Amino acid sequence: MMIMTPQVQFFRRSRYTYSIRMIKLIKSTFYKESATKKKLINFIQQARQLSFGPECEQFEKRFAAWQGRRHCVMLNSGSSANLAVIQALINLGYLRRGDRVGFSAVTWSTNVMPLFQLGLEPVAVDVSLETLNVTSANLEDVLKRTDLKMLFLTNLLGFCSDIDTIAAICRKRNIILIEDTCESQGSVYRGKRLGNFGLAGTFSFYVGHHMSTVEGGAVATDNEKLATMLRLVRAHGWDRNLSFAKQEEIRRRFRVNSTFYSRYTFYDLGYNLRPTEITGYLGQLQLELIDEIVSRRQRNFLELAERIYARTDRYYPLSFGHMDTVSNFAIPIIARTGLIRDELVKICEGKVEIRPVVGGDMTEQPFFRHYAPGTQTVCPNAGLIHSNGLYFGNNPELTHTELALLSSIFGGSHPRRKKAAIPVRKVRKISPKK
Ligand SMILES: Cc1ncc(COP(=O)(O)O)c(C=O)c1O
Repeated sequence: MMIMTPQVQFFRRSRYTYSIRMIKLIKSTFYKESATKKKLINFIQQARQLSFGPECEQFEKRFAAWQGRRHCVMLNSGSSANLAVIQALINLGYLRRGDRVGFSAVTWSTNVMPLFQLGLEPVAVDVSLETLNVTSANLEDVLKRTDLKMLFLTNLLGFCSDIDTIAAICRKRNIILIEDTCESQGSVYRGKRLGNFGLAGTFSFYVGHHMSTVEGGAVATDNEKLATMLRLVRAHGWDRNLSFAKQEEIRRRFRVNSTFYSRYTFYDLGYNLRPTEITGYLGQLQLELIDEIVSRRQRNFLELAERIYARTDRYYPLSFGHMDTVSNFAIPIIARTGLIRDELVKICEGKVEIRPVVGGDMTEQPFFRHYAPGTQTVCPNAGLIHSNGLYFGNNPELTHTELALLSSIFGGSHPRRKKAAIPVRKVRKISPKK
């Protein structure tokens, strides 16, 4: 039964809360939707080719430069980016069947699933309640119990912990570090973009994420071998999308002399995870706007965080002062009790669309229990985030009225009509280097 606390009563009575449309997790398909759709229509009408081609390749160059990596390989989703990077590491012999791979206990299903699918042994690493991310202490804890060949670290919801120390531990112990940056494109820690701390970073351009190509993803890396293998994995295991020099190299190595057969030679395990030219074109349009998107989201986040995380009586406060830029597409809240969480769920009905924090504790998901039976769950913080957490959308086009409603619902006080005078931290320009 719902308990009618003063908070619930206030929102039941308030006419104000009914005067705007429900705040959805995904407000629109694109930032600047109408202009983007017009350009897209025009592009489709003019385009000679819509399957993978020069638009995608152009996007890859631009994204690599923006992210500050030497190579970018575009794929048809963030999940495909995760699958492809693991397959590429196996093809290159960097990972072998049965190797143990650590992953952040709070993440998305398709971060962990490729590990099972490709015969690796996933090992859950708990996260901190302060940052919702794995800390170096969490990692050290796991390393006391088991060795890891790779760490598939998720940069959850724009945040990170001491990722530089995590990277140093991985380097020292020969652990391959891959960052799943599908939720943190544009976040910066100590002058470096998230996604650039390990061997590679994966990205998602799904509609609700930082920049939308509707569906889409990428892997960014400085490692040429990995980038080449990713291109092969992305498209059937053949060499079509490799540079001329790389094609010659691989054909020489495999003694493929016939031009006739070379186009139908399949060198290693792959899939079809290619994006279309529509994805590549949209990606370029969105890249022109990404700095603006990130800065608007950061401004929303700072404004709301100041109100919400001050409620330490109701929520676990999140810490983000160690970061230069927090780039998230949703704002998480971890309630101190299940009752507070349930109360928020009730208040949000019909007003604000909310959902659990990402995929919750992965070790509690049916697929994990099925494929890792008997695994002892030792992730208490992930469990608490699973049971007491929720998030709502942080759209770059949230209006002042919508921000005021969010602030009043989650900050637990009356709506403010005036814009909060919080200085917006500038998004630093990161030069294209490691
Ligand atoms: C951490 C994380 N990794 C991967 C993905 C998958 O991305 P996509 O939806 O583009 O497949 C998501 C999706 O939300 C995610 O949150």
